[in-house]
Amino acid sequence: LKIAAFEVRRDEIEDFKKAAEKYNVELIFTGKPLSVETFDFAKGCGAVTSLGHSRIDRVILNLMRDAGIRFYCTRTVGYNHINLEYARELGIRICNVSYPPTGVAEYTVMLMLMSLRKYKQAMFRGNVNDYSLEGLEGRELKNMTVGVVGTGRIGRTVIEILQGFGCRILAYDAYPNGSVADMAKYVELDTLYAESDVITLHTPLLESTYHMINRESIAKMKDGVVLINCARGSLMDVGDVIDGIEKQKFGALGLDVIEHEDGIYHVNHTVDIISNRDMAYIRQFPHVTMTQHMAFYTEEAVRSMVYGAVKNLRDLSKTGSSAFELF
Ligand code: COI
Repeated sequence: LKIAAFEVRRDEIEDFKKAAEKYNVELIFTGKPLSVETFDFAKGCGAVTSLGHSRIDRVILNLMRDAGIRFYCTRTVGYNHINLEYARELGIRICNVSYPPTGVAEYTVMLMLMSLRKYKQAMFRGNVNDYSLEGLEGRELKNMTVGVVGTGRIGRTVIEILQGFGCRILAYDAYPNGSVADMAKYVELDTLYAESDVITLHTPLLESTYHMINRESIAKMKDGVVLINCARGSLMDVGDVIDGIEKQKFGALGLDVIEHEDGIYHVNHTVDIISNRDMAYIRQFPHVTMTQHMAFYTEEAVRSMVYGAVKNLRDLSKTGSSAFELF
């Protein structure tokens, strides 16, 4: 099997070389995303892998079919960048990876604590030798109710970590998980919104979850609620969130993702003109902490993403199936 790997970062290269040797596949790689312009790089390969900046839409899938590429693996957990239905129609087999949830879960709890302790402002002040305390009084997680929306692997791990803080934990999932019920109380989403001091999102981006954080749901939340999103930007209607901020609804926000981040995050744009007004506006609020979709980014996760992708594509081609195939 020959695999074309797209969006390969420098820190992935060594693992890719080792994984190719381990699973006995040939591998070529490029830093560019897979697109119509870069597609030729994959010609002659039987399989392709990329991260989430490559849109696997009808056009790309048609090109894959025409080039005889039968397997694609995203080195991400999320797969909202892939037209799965059309891939199925064309018979192109698609899989994702499942790296350990710990990195994202730990990062989520870090954003909760940073938000509650006003760390962004404290850090800014320190940089200019302002060591005053005024306005930096925080709140303790121990005395709070945390609402976890989505109790898959990441949401569940957040709940596990939170056990150590002694807070009350509410959970919502369309498909409750028995093992979570020992650690958190499953409630209706509206109850979670109404009773939580901190709300953290861990659901995939689906038609049913698109803009679930909007004017109506924000109105159901407590005044002063802390909202954390390490999942997908489009779970939140950014315009409605900004309205909420202006109306002083939120105590703080910790956002590792933001709507329309594609093409901006993971690239150095220091000298570029970025045309995303919402992003520029929302990040300047004193209680909004934003990072560049990096909650996943640990040595452990990166290794697992690379090895997982190579193994899954090898399995599909060699055995005809993979435990990570998406349907
Ligand atoms: C995912 O795995 O779904 C992520 O969000 C991480 C990706 C940005 C590499």
